[in-house]
Amino acid sequence: MTESQPTLRRSPCGSLTADQVGERVLLKAWVHRRRDHGGVTFLDLRDRSGRVQVVFHADQQKVVAEALSPVRNEWVVEVEGTVGRRVPSAVNPNMATGEIEITAERAEVLAECQPMPFGVDGGADSSEETRLRYRYLDLRRENLQKAIQLRHAVTLETLKYLDGEGFLNIETPMLTRSTPEGARDYLVPSRVHHGEFFALPQSPQIFKQILMISGFERYVQIARCFRDEDLRADRQPEFTQIDLEMSFIDEEDVYQLVEGLFARIFPLAGIEPEAPYRRLGYDEAMLRFGSDRPDLRADLEIHDITETVTGSTFRAFQATIEAGGVVRALPVPQAAAASRKQLNGWVEIAQRYGAQGVLTLKQRDGLTEFQVKGTLSEEQLTALREQLALNDGDMALVVAASAKVAAASLGALRVELAKEYGHFREDDWEFLWVTDFPLVEEDPENDRWDAMHHPFTSPEPEHMELLETDPGAVRSRAYDVVLNGNELGGGSIRNHRLDVQQKVFKLIGIDDSEAKERFGFLLDALSYGAPPHGGLALGLDRLVMLMAGATSLRDVIPFPKTASATCLMTEAPSAVGLDQLQELGIRLAKPQAVAVGPDALGSSEPKLDTTEAGVGADVADSSNGEG
Ligand code: AMO
Repeated sequence: MTESQPTLRRSPCGSLTADQVGERVLLKAWVHRRRDHGGVTFLDLRDRSGRVQVVFHADQQKVVAEALSPVRNEWVVEVEGTVGRRVPSAVNPNMATGEIEITAERAEVLAECQPMPFGVDGGADSSEETRLRYRYLDLRRENLQKAIQLRHAVTLETLKYLDGEGFLNIETPMLTRSTPEGARDYLVPSRVHHGEFFALPQSPQIFKQILMISGFERYVQIARCFRDEDLRADRQPEFTQIDLEMSFIDEEDVYQLVEGLFARIFPLAGIEPEAPYRRLGYDEAMLRFGSDRPDLRADLEIHDITETVTGSTFRAFQATIEAGGVVRALPVPQAAAASRKQLNGWVEIAQRYGAQGVLTLKQRDGLTEFQVKGTLSEEQLTALREQLALNDGDMALVVAASAKVAAASLGALRVELAKEYGHFREDDWEFLWVTDFPLVEEDPENDRWDAMHHPFTSPEPEHMELLETDPGAVRSRAYDVVLNGNELGGGSIRNHRLDVQQKVFKLIGIDDSEAKERFGFLLDALSYGAPPHGGLALGLDRLVMLMAGATSLRDVIPFPKTASATCLMTEAPSAVGLDQLQELGIRLAKPQAVAVGPDALGSSEPKLDTTEAGVGADVADSSNGEG
């Protein structure tokens, strides 16, 4: 049936070069595109390595033509042929194999393909819903193939680098207790212990600290984490961390390690980070850039003008300052001629972040004009011009609000206006460390303090006294690594002293009995010779997203969830059979019995529609009194 020599092995399409002209090759690949030109047929064959053009003449290669006549896009074929040089006019400089083509001498169909819901080339144009439903086809697209390959390379290089730095790759459990990282848990009911639940880990935080107490000194895990939180383009309910922990170290060791790691992995995408990275304290970042993960590609800065405008007759300034708020300004060179439409757009942005509105300060013909005329004195206007370094044609946007709102709204405007007025370096890579975070932040709704990072973060030793007297002023030993306005990772030096850990729990409203109930094992472990330790976790998905130049995590996660946390391909989450629920001791609060036939596991029990009812699931046979 075949004349192929038994020794001929499959060649990857994208690996063929003009050096192989005259060689006989065997290809097994997908038909990317088929074109028929008056008796000559061209097939672009595609596999993981790339594409190559196959050609045959229906007249001269009758057997081949017969085998390939039904073939359409995305069929899988086997072709044996000889590498030839294309005529100069047919050379495609945009294709890695654009100089050559394979003249087919034997062909065979390996698999047919039904009509595609979208073309592999044009996949980006069809709806995201369709693409996620047919994710296996979406994943054939070149950018996704490249992103997944990059993800592999980053993971491998990370483990190689960390292995060289003495780290041990250690797994921690998926079925565990809740870890407080600020999101809701995904719970897994126990079949053996009715009424009891495992939580999927929000992070391996507690386990990695325990591993330090166990003496492993350096731990790394490519760790899957689960957080039931509101989704955005840079958040998925299930995501991956490069999770690290080290004993006997301080902040500087972590900074050096991460900068060393990034120097190894970013070049995989042609990016060379400049180390050491800039460092910014949290307060300074919030004040000057309006964000704790500032995008330093924007060359605009915010200024606090509270002091300068104190005494103004403008009521909004007076009221804000009296209420403990601030007045801040964002000077923008050459923006005084902005249109009303532009201004309205900026006001809208500021309002999204809670500001009442935005006022303008313009410098024109040597004069500084505040939007609300007559409310600032000549001295104040002169002082503002100097403080904000306003030149003719410049404008400053002014917000009066709480420090938090002023920072957030001007922080968003800072990036927006930098882009609009050409003060944004789109192609730069601005890495930085944000340090000196507050240990806790106020939760005014519940009138209590919440941990800003997580409760295992150590306070600055010199602030220990303040824990009881002025908690809001306590700085922590936490740090974030930020790239172009994205939080790539965060971590801290931990509480290795039991008494300090207990104090922090108390401060955030976890009393002794709750601490014992939730974290008793950690507290016990801390009393058995815990080494000083710390670490951090990097978001692998975010890292790869930025390296790949993508704007959504979905472009770098093989099987991502939708914005409403579902998997369209497998249609998870799904209803389960009554027998399964019974086994777990679970009765739904609002059972909406919808018999939809046997479930995926082959049970013949009617299924329950849990789309709504699942929210209020309760426990039918609780052995410990819960529910
Ligand atoms: P943190 O909660 O800051 O720290 O998470 C670390 C990094 O994980 C990434 N990340 C996410 N990525 C995608 N989707 C999400 N929903 C998501 N949430 C977080 C971010 C973030 O910077 N245990 C601590 C680390 C430590 O203290 O060592 C932790 O999990 O890139």
